Amino acid sequence: MPVILAIESSCDETSASVCADGKILSNHIASQAVHEKYGGVVPELASRAHMQHIVPVVDLALKEAGIELAAIDAIAFTRAPGLIGSLLVGAQFAKSLAAALNKPLIAVHHMQAHVLANLIPERRPSFPFLCLTVSGGHTQIVVCHSPSKLEVIGETIDDAAGEAFDKSAKILGLPYPGGPLIDKYAQQGDANRFKFPEPRIADLNFSFSGLKTAILYFLQNAGTSLLYKEEFQANTEERKAFIDNNLFDICASIQSRIVSILLNKYDKAARQTGIKDLCIAGGVSANSGLRKAFKEMGDKNGYNTFIPAFEYCTDNAAMIAITAYYKFLEKDFVSLDVDVSARGSF
Ligand code: KG4
Ligand code: ZN
Repeated sequence: MPVILAIESSCDETSASVCADGKILSNHIASQAVHEKYGGVVPELASRAHMQHIVPVVDLALKEAGIELAAIDAIAFTRAPGLIGSLLVGAQFAKSLAAALNKPLIAVHHMQAHVLANLIPERRPSFPFLCLTVSGGHTQIVVCHSPSKLEVIGETIDDAAGEAFDKSAKILGLPYPGGPLIDKYAQQGDANRFKFPEPRIADLNFSFSGLKTAILYFLQNAGTSLLYKEEFQANTEERKAFIDNNLFDICASIQSRIVSILLNKYDKAARQTGIKDLCIAGGVSANSGLRKAFKEMGDKNGYNTFIPAFEYCTDNAAMIAITAYYKFLEKDFVSLDVDVSARGSF
């Protein structure tokens, strides 16, 4: 029964989790509010905050799990992808601990971990299952053949779904990260009020850059047209008043289009592969509109749908711990000189 301490530090959340025999005993997350005023994550500030948070976060995760350091069988950390400075803090901490305790070290891919977050609850998908992974940096449809064999069958050719939310929010003058705010306002709005275009993209791939441009023109014209027409350009005051008066409907309409772009392709992937167990993962899977529409699609088309609990959707160490558990069973360990990487697939 391996007891694993896992650390996640790829972007702007410092998180630690303890898992025993594949069961999550604790999952602590320290978020970094410092980036809010810059409208995005500032890498240098993120690394610094990780250094401040990592010791107390690990301490809390161990205490809540009721586990002493001496009882740990392996240390896991996120190796890729992410911000190099952020990844290095978690990696160095994990390596030091593994060396001090003389325990094996497990390197985990962040996107694989988002997918395997669906193996945390007792009700789990059967292999092979599909996963729509939607985060701030990625949008992928993955076939998960086994915990260690994942195959990307569709992905974004430009922005990720999370970026589509965050960039739309930025255009509306909302603070970073705007995804959760669009979700909140959308719940009070009419999604049919404004129609944003759905891109025609081949195969199982996605594109979100056209939506961003459409929103920009739509606001420049204070809602009168999706096309760029110089004579229709609203001035700053008119634009601001239009947003203020219609914010809930605009958010609901944007969210509904992002969700339909995602689910139309996901439905196509399910039909093409014949796979019936469908999961979602990543920060955008916390979106209430996506969760609801995904479940409805499953009920209508006969798919078994799996949605992680909120705390396992956005970046967290529990998903690193569960992935590390499967790697432990396969004795997939790394040496202390392993490098972190900003990019790279599973
Ligand atoms: O997976 P994640 O926590 O970090 C990355 O690995 O990127 O995803 C972060 C993304 C951000 O773009 C954030 O705006 C989005 O997930 N997000 C949401 C919601 N919660 C987080 N987007 C829409 N609705 C939400 N409720
Ligand atoms: Zn993530």
